[in-house]
Amino acid sequence: LIDVEALAASMGAVVRGVDLAGLDDPTFAEIERALYHHGLLVFPDQKIGHADQDALTRRFGEHGVDAYTDGVPGFPDIQPVVREAGPAPPIFFGANWHTDSPFLPRPPAISMLRSVEVPPFGGDTLYTSTRQAYAGLSDGMKALLDGMRGLYSRSHLLRAIQQWEEDQSLPFDIVPGEHDLRDATAHPLVRTHPVTGHKALYVDENYTLGIEGLRRAEATPILAYLLSQVTKPDYLCRVRWQPNMLAMWDNRLVLHQAFDDFAPHRREMYRSTVLGEVPL
Ligand code: OGA
Ligand code: MN
Repeated sequence: LIDVEALAASMGAVVRGVDLAGLDDPTFAEIERALYHHGLLVFPDQKIGHADQDALTRRFGEHGVDAYTDGVPGFPDIQPVVREAGPAPPIFFGANWHTDSPFLPRPPAISMLRSVEVPPFGGDTLYTSTRQAYAGLSDGMKALLDGMRGLYSRSHLLRAIQQWEEDQSLPFDIVPGEHDLRDATAHPLVRTHPVTGHKALYVDENYTLGIEGLRRAEATPILAYLLSQVTKPDYLCRVRWQPNMLAMWDNRLVLHQAFDDFAPHRREMYRSTVLGEVPL
């Protein structure tokens, strides 16, 4: 029913021959299966609007909580990700390796991003397979991580943004402190996919600040090693955007990051998320 072509060895696929605005149940089921296999699906040439993206998101489940914006008029769950033309501001949404909102008790399972206007160069989104990165660990390392819980927080990011808004003469610098762990949310450091049972590392650069029960001096080198593992070139997949593309990814299987490399050009995207389970 659908034409799926792998984008890279470890993850990601491009899907052609479907109209996301009019999916029948068997086609939707194939897309869902392909998503859980590849971690990321990219659909070129989809001339769809907010209502279609909203409906597509709802096919997968309830809308996720979005921590950052109030949506677009008429669609509170469609979040604008728009960078206007001009010089690059210091804070860029989606920068650095991350999984979406792991600090929430039920982080979004799936995120979707739809492109309307893309810059002539740059503005790519880079992904990595946390599932293949986990599979690449030794049995000893897997045993060490078994049962460990990561601590996820965004208070250091909010503080950096607030401090930059108060005084823009200081560099924008995100420095997590000891106290950021106090309001952190704990989830398994190795997640199990609720449908396929695949295991994947749940470690990122933006939000993973510690490991439950471990001292900072103990947790930091483990997290640094795991981040180096998940960001090895072996596991990457890069998406070069065209207008009218929709990407959907499974936050339980991949990390992603955006780049601030397309000034002075404009980039207009819209994102939506599907509410996830309490991480297993
Ligand atoms: C996101 C995100 C990346 C991008 O929407 O969650 O990180 O390339 N976006 O805009
Ligand atoms: Mn993101």
